[in-house]
Amino acid sequence: MCGIVAALAREGNIGPEVISGLKTLEYRGYDSAGIAVMTDDGILVRRKMGKIRALESELAANGLPPSSQALAHTRWATHGVPADRNAHPHTDDNGKVVVVHNGIIENYAELRAELQQRGHQFRSDTDTEVLVNLIASNLRQSGSLHAAVRQALSQVHGAYAIVAMSECEPGRFVVARMDSPLVVGLGADGTYAASDMPALLHLTRDFLILENGETAVLELDHCQVYDPAGQPVDRVVTRCDWTPEQAEKGGYPHFMLKEIEEQPDVLARTAFDRFHDSEGDVDFEATFALDDAELRYFSRLRFMAMGTSLHSAMLGQMMLAELARLPGETLNASEFLYSPELKETDALTVIISQSGETADSLRAMREVKRRGGRVLGVCNVQGSTLAREADHLILTHCGPEVGVASTKAFFGQITALYLLAIRIGRARRVLAPSAGRQLLAALRGLRPKLDILFGAELKAAVEQAADYLASVNSCLFLGRGFNFPIALEGALKLKEISYIHAEGYPAGEMKHGPIALIDAQFPVIALATPGRTYEKMISNLQEVRAREGKVIALCAQGDERIAREADFLLQVPEVSELLQPLVNVIPLQQLSYQVALKLGRDIDQPRNLAKSVTVE
Ligand code: G6P
Repeated sequence: MCGIVAALAREGNIGPEVISGLKTLEYRGYDSAGIAVMTDDGILVRRKMGKIRALESELAANGLPPSSQALAHTRWATHGVPADRNAHPHTDDNGKVVVVHNGIIENYAELRAELQQRGHQFRSDTDTEVLVNLIASNLRQSGSLHAAVRQALSQVHGAYAIVAMSECEPGRFVVARMDSPLVVGLGADGTYAASDMPALLHLTRDFLILENGETAVLELDHCQVYDPAGQPVDRVVTRCDWTPEQAEKGGYPHFMLKEIEEQPDVLARTAFDRFHDSEGDVDFEATFALDDAELRYFSRLRFMAMGTSLHSAMLGQMMLAELARLPGETLNASEFLYSPELKETDALTVIISQSGETADSLRAMREVKRRGGRVLGVCNVQGSTLAREADHLILTHCGPEVGVASTKAFFGQITALYLLAIRIGRARRVLAPSAGRQLLAALRGLRPKLDILFGAELKAAVEQAADYLASVNSCLFLGRGFNFPIALEGALKLKEISYIHAEGYPAGEMKHGPIALIDAQFPVIALATPGRTYEKMISNLQEVRAREGKVIALCAQGDERIAREADFLLQVPEVSELLQPLVNVIPLQQLSYQVALKLGRDIDQPRNLAKSVTVE
């Protein structure tokens, strides 16, 4: 989704730093980019449809004067097609005020009609141009950019993160947020604002996080935050522990490949500091804030998420049932708002989100709270909305994930949910200390086994299977039990980055429909590692083979029975059934990556997708 970077520097030309920050937001997905600078002669805007390099070519061709105040934007089209005229920043019709905006102004059509009646001219199809004209018109009356922005925001409904600057108040930005993320960066050489922290890590590691409904006035050496009523508030500085290097590609051709290969480290980062070995238990940070008595009190769990995080939610539900004997349900967060209101006091809702900014997941979180329920957030981004608003929090510590298709964040989520299942199982006295110790030892023992997944043998097997898969139009991923969410995730990964149609199914369901698709051209990717569903999976493979379907089987190393049923084999180390998803997902990520590479797809930023979907 859209990205914002704005900077006010003590001296020098800040434009290149702003563009460099904007590039770290490319992963969010966008279709055009633009920049505005403050000069002695007023505001200058350059914007271009396409990637940031198209904007850079435009800047090289037409020049942009050096400036110490600049704001820039990447746009993901909502109102109006991707086009130069719809790209941000947008100015009012006198070119005196400029705004970048993420989100959607729902009542923009009425406001636009009103402004047109008052003589305002519009050059784009966007809701943002309505907002900037509203601000400019208010500014003429109030004489203060902050007051004009506040007044304009009181007239709009919807979601927004905005940065505004005016020729009348050089050296100042006014920023605001409602349901779309925005952070303020404080550095020795300047004051900054951006959609997320990695965009500013080359400039500062100190941040002020804005809450919903707040506005702020940014000047050199100073940022004043105001609450929704316009009263000044003191905000504590958050120090970000991510390094700029963590957000860089580090020599890999794609972020996705780097992030796939970082997964063994994610295991250590998410889990190993949290072991309480002697007790066979888990110590979460203070943000978890649930003691044993509270954990015993809940009689059901609800998991909610979107996209890849929904698949880890499904695994979370299964692990909690297995290790803590706690019943649960998993819901797509976007469906929850319309569900009947049931008693919430006996339930804990776990909301899982890499970014902590997915609009549907945030709406669901707020709805649970409105209904009187409690929310535990499982999130990768410190300071995100989920991390701040959830009643309880587990951070996954995966480091920044940039590839649009989620990989290491999924791995971190499953790891965290495994720890949560142990923690709740121990609190509810379902797990004895010895059982807890065994489960923790199994997780520790997983680390060296993961290295096998990055060896030459599996790489060659993945490439062979990818060669074949790149030639098909459609395929089926099958799994049972703990492998079912992994089948869903394998299918999602493939369609996201290769654009090949893929569906994940519980293998038992195959006979009730998907089997009709199977012929000599139709491949099935089957998760057939040992466990309680193994024999049934073999039967399913035989059913596919009997119809001449091609089988790519993911199985344990040396499994002869599966080898006899498959055209391609992806052999993985065998681990406990609960941990097998962490192993099995990696070759499926590698497979999708290789297929997309062979097809020449835009792997880190697949078409139409966004990393963080901040609109419902
Ligand atoms: C988008 C991304 C997915 C992600 C989903 C949920 O669709 O492209 O990779 O899984 O959002 O994101 P979240 O940040 O809430 O985990």
